Amino acid sequence: HRHLTGIEGLEPHEITFLLDEAETWVEANRTRAAPDRRLAGFTQINAFFENSTRTLLSFEIAGKRLGADTVNMHAAQSSVKKGETLIDTAQTLNAMRADVIVIRHMSSGAVRLIADKVDCPVLNAGDGRHEHPTQALLDALTIRRRLGGIAHKRVVICGDLLHSRVARSNILALTALAAEVRVCAPSTLMPPAIERFGVTAFTDFDRAMEGADVVMMLRLQTERMAGGYVPSSREYHLRYGLTLERLAKHAPGALIMHPGPMNRGVEIDSAVADHVEQSAITEQVQMGVAVRMACLDVLTRRARGVEGWA
Ligand code: CP
Repeated sequence: HRHLTGIEGLEPHEITFLLDEAETWVEANRTRAAPDRRLAGFTQINAFFENSTRTLLSFEIAGKRLGADTVNMHAAQSSVKKGETLIDTAQTLNAMRADVIVIRHMSSGAVRLIADKVDCPVLNAGDGRHEHPTQALLDALTIRRRLGGIAHKRVVICGDLLHSRVARSNILALTALAAEVRVCAPSTLMPPAIERFGVTAFTDFDRAMEGADVVMMLRLQTERMAGGYVPSSREYHLRYGLTLERLAKHAPGALIMHPGPMNRGVEIDSAVADHVEQSAITEQVQMGVAVRMACLDVLTRRARGVEGWA
């Protein structure tokens, strides 16, 4: 693979390969051991057409820890605001001879479009409702490290599935790695025919949570709901909010995950998000740096004359 535009199209062994590569960076990141400058002389452009805290910063930190020169383009301060098209923007980035481009965009498929126009590897940092592959990889790595494996673990993904690229990439990655995936949402936020992805769909959160090993909560993406039904926060919290009481009753001991940003008191209570033993939310962010180092390294191997994918 020249690019990482999604989990779709990756074989289970390729996902495992990326997780194994990421694993090699976890300890080095924790101890800040001897710097590794394998991307020295490489220019990494992070082009973000949508807001981000975790993904942008961790891609930048990942590139810097590998010695790359990282440059950030924020759409709000770019000529996109003057009406420049996506293809013209892609050609401009290409003309600057980037060695790797990381893109976040509000339109599903925009990353693929740019990938087809440039000469260097492109990594998807989230495109519309489509995919957020590095998020799924960091989630899988977090589960694997905490639970010792992914196969046959019962993972419940609850929230705004309709608008969630995180859910889509996670469903693809976790089912490929043989997890039992349950999805839960109000019917207005459940994508049609989601069972075709090999998951079981629920509208009752309590039933969905029974016996879960992992409960992954998603934010209501109100910015993608224009013209559609927007549930009230109070009503949503009552039926789909993860509280300590709900957790203790239906999935005591389950690992608690959230990709962030969280809306505390809506989809997740603070007492759950900050749960000392069970919450893996901070760990997810830590794994994000390791996963992004692995992806930057693997995708630039061909250009460095090193053997690429497994
Ligand atoms: N999880 C995630 O993508 O967070 P950001 O939007 O802050 O990058």
